[in-house]
Amino acid sequence: MLEGKHIILGITGSIAAYKAAMLCRLLKTAGCQVRVVMTPMAKQFITPLTMATLSRNPILVDFFDPENGAWNSHVALGEWADCYLIAPATANTLAKMATGVADNLLLTTYLSARCPVAVAPAMDLDMYAHVSTQANLATLRERGVKVIEPGEGELASGLSGKGRMAEPEQIVEEIDTLLCEKKKSLAGRRFIVTAGATIEAIDPVRYITNHSTGKMGYAIAGELAARGADVRLISGRTSLPVPQGVERVDVLSAAEMYAAATAQWEHADGAVMCAAVADYTPCEVADRKIKKSDDDMSIRLRRTEDIAARLGADKGGRILVGFALETDDEQAHAEAKLVKKNFDFVVLNSLRDAGAGFRGDTNKVALIDRSSRTDYPLMSKREVAAIIVDRIEHLTDNRK
Ligand code: C5P
Repeated sequence: MLEGKHIILGITGSIAAYKAAMLCRLLKTAGCQVRVVMTPMAKQFITPLTMATLSRNPILVDFFDPENGAWNSHVALGEWADCYLIAPATANTLAKMATGVADNLLLTTYLSARCPVAVAPAMDLDMYAHVSTQANLATLRERGVKVIEPGEGELASGLSGKGRMAEPEQIVEEIDTLLCEKKKSLAGRRFIVTAGATIEAIDPVRYITNHSTGKMGYAIAGELAARGADVRLISGRTSLPVPQGVERVDVLSAAEMYAAATAQWEHADGAVMCAAVADYTPCEVADRKIKKSDDDMSIRLRRTEDIAARLGADKGGRILVGFALETDDEQAHAEAKLVKKNFDFVVLNSLRDAGAGFRGDTNKVALIDRSSRTDYPLMSKREVAAIIVDRIEHLTDNRK
């Protein structure tokens, strides 16, 4: 898998930087092209000459070449790479990566990289175990960074514990696996994902909506794009960033979402209906702010169109995935949706499960199709997205 791959090797200021020399050799032996980026501090631990010789490329440290003023483009570097491996990764660099600090070339390259990123932490045992470091690693994992766990043993401080950078052979193996996992299995396929809550205006000031944040749909769109699919994310209002490689279509109301989804469906190979679409919308939208009076008031609502059912009606051999968020009789409701909307499978989440459903970063789901139900434990929404896309990939393969 590594043959011909472009790897950026990022080196930070840790005693374990001496192992980066061996790591670079192993990557070269496996057939990779390697470009080395070092933090200014890393130069204190291993010389640029060593790394330039082993990688057979000049070392990058500064934003500008001090000799001739040429700009070292982190954007071009990020685009060139198939994988960005930061080994060793210090607590300082991990913290900066987790918070988006961009004060050296290694970090700006991280922010620009579109490829899979892996870090191999190296630090003293207490620094590694510290809640801040662990929280930063959790943040990075959540964003898809592969963390290559440090080993236990004697540390540079003389203490013994967890914090030794993983051995170069193990790191190379993990990079190989990471690149296998990230192969573009859905290249050439086009998917629609609907996400977030819709907003139904009552007057120019008020509206009806729900608690959906869009996080689950955004994670699915990101996962589909990471596997090479062309993704149109039809999104209600949210403050979430657009996942890399995804094209977002902004909508507000259920009617706008219906129009966008049906227009895109013609060219799509599949759709994941993740949005929490309003089932009812006000019959009339007042063109001025409704003034309060002392009386009670009521708003007449009419049914919205069911987007999923409309796509399901002319699905053909395409893939259609739906969600069901239930508070009771989960299985029966999910099965009814499967049939009514012509879904291939339904992702069921129950509001009864702690950590599932709206707002949070975790979800607990079951995948239900016409012949089976598979229950999963509580996972991050990113992991849930991966199992949903695995199932989509499986269906795609079977329909080739
Ligand atoms: O029937 P219910 O709204 O519970 O079904 C949920 C599923 O249907 C979700 O996948 C949701 O995105 C989709 N849906 C839709 N259009 C609607 C209502 C629901 O696409 N108007």
